[in-house]
Amino acid sequence: MYKQLEQRGMSQPPVNVSTLAKMKAEGEPIACLTAYDASFANMVDQAGTDLVLVGDSLGMVIQGCDTTVPVTVEDIIYHTRIVSRGLLRAFLVADMPFMSYSSPEQALENAVRLMQEGGAMMVKLEGGRGQVKIVETLTRHDIPVCAHIGLRPQSVHKIGGFKVQGRDSGQAKKMVEDAVALQDAGADIVLLECVPSEVGQAVRDAVSVPVIGIGAGPAVDGQILVLYDVLGITQGRLPRFVQNFMTEADSLMDACVKYVEAVKNKTYPAPEHCFS
Ligand code: KIV
Repeated sequence: MYKQLEQRGMSQPPVNVSTLAKMKAEGEPIACLTAYDASFANMVDQAGTDLVLVGDSLGMVIQGCDTTVPVTVEDIIYHTRIVSRGLLRAFLVADMPFMSYSSPEQALENAVRLMQEGGAMMVKLEGGRGQVKIVETLTRHDIPVCAHIGLRPQSVHKIGGFKVQGRDSGQAKKMVEDAVALQDAGADIVLLECVPSEVGQAVRDAVSVPVIGIGAGPAVDGQILVLYDVLGITQGRLPRFVQNFMTEADSLMDACVKYVEAVKNKTYPAPEHCFS
């Protein structure tokens, strides 16, 4: 059945949306990382990462920009294509960059490009209930969608900085409602960034699709971090939720293995990585 994988000497079937749903149902934490090239993609795959995201964070960690706003569809296609060559098992998600999904037609055209030219298996877009029409359109065309809520880095200039979201009860309630609306529109995964752990728990309880957190506390169904943060490459002041796994590792691969183990045995995130 998995002819290509057999040829590549791989016995485990690749992760797909059903695998992720099953992991949630069985309470197995989903370990996710970003990657931007074939070598690192292969390393995180071998380390046991379940889902790999070609994030528009590449604008910051690869291109040296201050935000993710300058990243283009061409950038994401290029990096997704080269990441896909390094993966054997992990599920590949590609980010839709800023203003690449401002109408259902534009979203559909660009999502198709990320899948056909890049090899993505799912696309990720930022936004709450305002994106319901876009998610419905992609879903109607059988394009799997990850809906990114909480802190939305593409809106940094509107928000006024990279800040914790959902700190007051009104905002938190709205975020839970957003997650439900996006799930009902067809989103297969919710990604929740930089919110108090209580909000992570509330979103997780409100939806039946997997909720992947980054700075969203321990109650969500999986964790994701930017690979360069995990490997201690990123310089400067880092968000509270980041852990540098290189400090206890003897190789880059070992750091990735330790991250996956920490997510699976729920020692990451620890209380010091969480907002309350
Ligand atoms: O762009 C990205 O890498 C992301 C993760 C931080 C979740 O959106």
